[in-house]
Amino acid sequence: MAPETQADIAIRLYSSRSSSYDDSWHASFTKRFVSYLNLSPGQQVLDLACGSGLLSFLEADAVGSSGRVIGVDVTKGMLSEAIAKRDRETEKFSNLKFYEGDILKLEQVEAVKDQTFDLVTLASALVLFPDPGAAVRYWSDYLKPGGCIALDATHPNNIIFGMVLERTGRRLGLSIPYHREWSKSKDTLRDVLETAGLEVEQVVTIDNQAGYGRRYYEISDADDQFERNIILGDAATTFADPEIRKRAKAVFKEEWEKLAVNGKVEEVDAVFLGIARKRTTPGTILVSGKSHTDVLLSGGCRCQGVRYQSTAPPSSITFCHCRACQQVSGAPFLPFIQVPTSSFKFTSSSTLRTLKLSDAAERTFCSTCGSPITMVYLFEGRKEGTSLTMGSVDTESLKCEMPKVRKHIFLGEKAPWFELSDDGVERMETSLEAHLIKPYLVPRSSA
Ligand SMILES: C[S@@+](CC[C@H](N)C(=O)[O-])C[C@H]1O[C@@H](n2cnc3c(N)ncnc32)[C@H](O)[C@@H]1O
Ligand SMILES: [Zn+2]
Ligand SMILES: [Zn+2]
Repeated sequence: MAPETQADIAIRLYSSRSSSYDDSWHASFTKRFVSYLNLSPGQQVLDLACGSGLLSFLEADAVGSSGRVIGVDVTKGMLSEAIAKRDRETEKFSNLKFYEGDILKLEQVEAVKDQTFDLVTLASALVLFPDPGAAVRYWSDYLKPGGCIALDATHPNNIIFGMVLERTGRRLGLSIPYHREWSKSKDTLRDVLETAGLEVEQVVTIDNQAGYGRRYYEISDADDQFERNIILGDAATTFADPEIRKRAKAVFKEEWEKLAVNGKVEEVDAVFLGIARKRTTPGTILVSGKSHTDVLLSGGCRCQGVRYQSTAPPSSITFCHCRACQQVSGAPFLPFIQVPTSSFKFTSSSTLRTLKLSDAAERTFCSTCGSPITMVYLFEGRKEGTSLTMGSVDTESLKCEMPKVRKHIFLGEKAPWFELSDDGVERMETSLEAHLIKPYLVPRSSA
């Protein structure tokens, strides 16, 4: 049997929810979502993963009869709800159409394939896609120059059992229908949008998405959460095998306990909403849209034995304070930018040496001059990005904006002799994934 695709999983999850979907908190959340959009009469809107049309109807109202809204969703049940609502008010909503399709295969949706829009929206769906960066790049091809995309991603503590489930699944190599691990802050959403070549207008935190604000579970609730949400929830089939279930329950408990602070696990009812614009003026980003072939940055090592290039613009700069970065650079931290692995290539690699210095990442260096060049995380869902040491980038080669410093990470391992000035940049402790990292043992010869 062919493995389930992302779209198959979505259909499985949402078919059973379709008829009661409008009774959920999504109805009030989409009202808040649309209030950030600044819609005006006459605009053309594409509502991706429109579901039962909660957001599409609000958009159709706002763009009026001179505008147009197209909703696309892959789940028949959700779409039939939307179409039934529209058919009850055909005159008022003559500007609104719904189509069935996979939103990562829009070229197969006749009404959309050669079109561009003033606004593309995606509410409560980004975390269903394994590679958010690639997805946003793909969707931005459907924006007019100057058009905007608006989408939301979860706060790391939103629906907390889901996050624990995702970590459990990753550790056991099981497939989980959500991909939230990357969404850690407003800045991680900003990075996704910027890496797709878009100009970020705003990223805001929307609190109280489902109406409960913040709540706390006991550290001892792990088994109960596992039974209630996992065994009876969406991922049930993944854990049907008793042996897998037993192992998963133990790992779930471990991950749950790791999140506890003073014996409590916090759940935060918030999402981040990002709005970003497709650039109109070539000059900031010279390539956009369908051709991703121009080289936007290049760089290499001190002796030129290693050279690389990227056809995608880089993310903002992150300073990594982890012990490994300190040791390989001889400095208190290593500054990195990230580009999509699919847009990156080495143009000269005669002296390139690849080293795995921990279970977490693979790094490259020049074996002649010693320069550290790249790092790729080995975790599922993270291999799509290649981090480049900012010092190896030829800044004069940049055909996009100079990236800005946006984050300090792994501060739990910060060099004690280094004083971090108050630079106003986001600070993160040692990553929650760091527990997976086994220390690197130097292979010793027996001689
Ligand atoms: C949580 S619902 C959100 C619906 C709507 N945007 C809202 O806010 O009410 C997620 C929707 O994403 C749709 N979906 C997931 N993957 C999809 C894909 N690859 N193509 C089209 N729709 C997809 C599901 O069918 C479901 O209707
Ligand atoms: Zn070199
Ligand atoms: Zn590091």
